[in-house]
Amino acid sequence: MRPRHTPRIDSRAPSRERRAALLSGWPTGWPTFGHPARRARRAALFALCAGALACALGMAPGATVRAAGPLTTPLTIRIGFVAPLTGDYANYGHDLQNGVQLALDDANAQGIKIGEQTARFELIAIDDRGDPRLGIQAAARLANLNVAAVVGHFNSGTAIPASRIYESAGIPMIDPAATNPVITSQGFANTFTVIANDAQNAGIAGAWAVDVVKARRIAIVDDRTAFGQGEADVFERTVKEHGGNVVARDFAPTDAGDFGPQLARIKAADADLLYFGGLARQAAALVKQMKARSMHTQFVGGGGVAIPDFVQLAGPAGDGALAWEYGRPLAQLPDGPRFAQKFKSRFGTEVLAYAPFGYDATWAAIHAMTAAKSANPDVFRAALKTLSFDGVTGRIAFDDTGALKNGASTLYQVKQGAWVPVTTRGG
Ligand code: ALA
Repeated sequence: MRPRHTPRIDSRAPSRERRAALLSGWPTGWPTFGHPARRARRAALFALCAGALACALGMAPGATVRAAGPLTTPLTIRIGFVAPLTGDYANYGHDLQNGVQLALDDANAQGIKIGEQTARFELIAIDDRGDPRLGIQAAARLANLNVAAVVGHFNSGTAIPASRIYESAGIPMIDPAATNPVITSQGFANTFTVIANDAQNAGIAGAWAVDVVKARRIAIVDDRTAFGQGEADVFERTVKEHGGNVVARDFAPTDAGDFGPQLARIKAADADLLYFGGLARQAAALVKQMKARSMHTQFVGGGGVAIPDFVQLAGPAGDGALAWEYGRPLAQLPDGPRFAQKFKSRFGTEVLAYAPFGYDATWAAIHAMTAAKSANPDVFRAALKTLSFDGVTGRIAFDDTGALKNGASTLYQVKQGAWVPVTTRGG
């Protein structure tokens, strides 16, 4: 397999570590350049390279050397993870983190070899609360720590700015959940997604609303995040391309629990279908307020809505709600039920949403390192680009931009208090 395009490595650019230091704000002048821990590690790494052994193994940034020893010494590889672990989106973040942890546990149990050395994978998890400013800080910290790869971020609003930091630092970011198509359209060599994006998911929803549902008066509301607004834009554009009629386009910020003014306009416009770009909590508030206003408009969510939280929060108002979600139903995937069972016995909780994508994103990094016999991103990046393996969520392979090839989207409907798959497109 050949790389589809050559990784953009500029030999005139500052070193990867220095770029990370510049981004993180650590002092960079010799001889005190960098954080003390990093200086110590750099010294250890230098000592090892002096024997030409580590360099021959491609064991540079991303691999932490506990002690210069024989090849039986485990190679500790740090994987960064960023998602909201507190705040409104924390349930999605913990679910994702568990998926990543499960992959690392499996890899450690298997005694994965990177070249001649047994790898010991460690997770460094950071909470960004879904806040772009905290997301940027988390990315700078992980770059400063020289992690081998990052799985994250959850929100498009944090993933887009963070991706610029990882690109500058030369660290692959493999995203399991953020779906704004901008993420992989920036021409970056270090950005990958293992989940279908919203050009696909919201595009399918828009075409379906016009061609299959035959909705005649379509309303759209989004939460004004990079994610929600992004998917609402794609949905609106596709509806219009298919000859549909958008009678209302509105928004309410994520923290607004009140959709009163928006729903008043949508009711007055006599919409027969309402598409919402945003996550489950806001979607549940929206359908409850629709029911309180005796609206009979069909609710259709985009990604991130078809999770049990929606049903619990919405109660009876959620009955009949529809949502287009990424990927195929876990129960219908060859490894899905086994994954669900293992997840439950390991964490004592059911898969909520994107844990299987977190698992696959982590394995993408591990497979690439194994194939390249190196935990150095400058070495294993090419293997990521040509990777192809069967993950829990389906086949994982990337197009030239780093986006998942052949992602799927599934329509779900709430029936008797549970999301039930209706149909799947793509994949
Ligand atoms: N898919 C959601 C986003 O991109 C989680 O923000």
